[in-house]
Amino acid sequence: MPEADKEGERYSADVPQQSPGFFLKGSHQLDWGMKNRLASTFNPETGRTVMLAVDHGYFQGPTTGLERIDLSILPLLPSCDALFCTRGILRSVVPASSQKPMVLRASGGPSILREELSDEQIAMDMDDAVRLNASGVGIQVFIGGEHETRSVHNMTKLVDAGLRVGIPVMGITAVGKTMVRDAKYFRLACRIIAELGAQYVKTYYVEEGFETVTASCPVPVVMAGGKKLPELEALTMAYNAVQQGAAGVDMGRNIFQSDAPKAMIAAVGAVVHQNMKPNEAFDLYRSLRTNK
Ligand code: R5P
Repeated sequence: MPEADKEGERYSADVPQQSPGFFLKGSHQLDWGMKNRLASTFNPETGRTVMLAVDHGYFQGPTTGLERIDLSILPLLPSCDALFCTRGILRSVVPASSQKPMVLRASGGPSILREELSDEQIAMDMDDAVRLNASGVGIQVFIGGEHETRSVHNMTKLVDAGLRVGIPVMGITAVGKTMVRDAKYFRLACRIIAELGAQYVKTYYVEEGFETVTASCPVPVVMAGGKKLPELEALTMAYNAVQQGAAGVDMGRNIFQSDAPKAMIAAVGAVVHQNMKPNEAFDLYRSLRTNK
């Protein structure tokens, strides 16, 4: 793989990519419907999103915090920009009267009981995403995984189907349990996903060189939260990610497993949309938590 001699300089992370006529990076030449769906998922004023990820049940079942989505997650809907969920939860639990944009999990297969998770297939027709008025669909891509080629082709098939109907695809970098999670890996994975047509990419934050991951990805990157951290650490991670070029977050456990999810999602929103500093956002979290 070709590597830059002076890595930081070659990525020009401080020079934004031009997107004439539309607020989202790499999206200015898409069709109207696709742009309109992106503009419902990402806030046009800030160019960022707070997407609440609650799709975990598609392979983990009723994980902690998602045992009763009707009770734990529906009260958070007003505080997010979009919800990332499965079509099963959408149809069974989320009121159809909701105006919130819905991004739907479109891949599945192996459960948490299996060692190898990359053996996924497309798990939803694009017709159903249209029927459900989805604002987007999301799919795992296992770069370097045992079933890498299949997962890449799952995504490209979904991208082709999405282009036919104007539904954007979020490609998700799924990292194998034994793989190194560093900027080099995420640059590779995010870039492959974007080159093969995803309209935006979800990936994990890394302490070193995250700005090279966002700079070398020609479409928006949203940060996945990962395992539950203390609230100040999670807010710091979200802050660093958006300051280093992420177009927001698609966070789950760090919100719904918090002691005070409503307070936490409000604090994440302040970090993402107002560039609030982590300590200030943590104060906000604490003050809202005591009022919960
Ligand atoms: C992966 O794509 C998962 O299904 C979640 O959507 C993702 O990991 C984000 O959730 P969390 O912030 O809990 O990692």
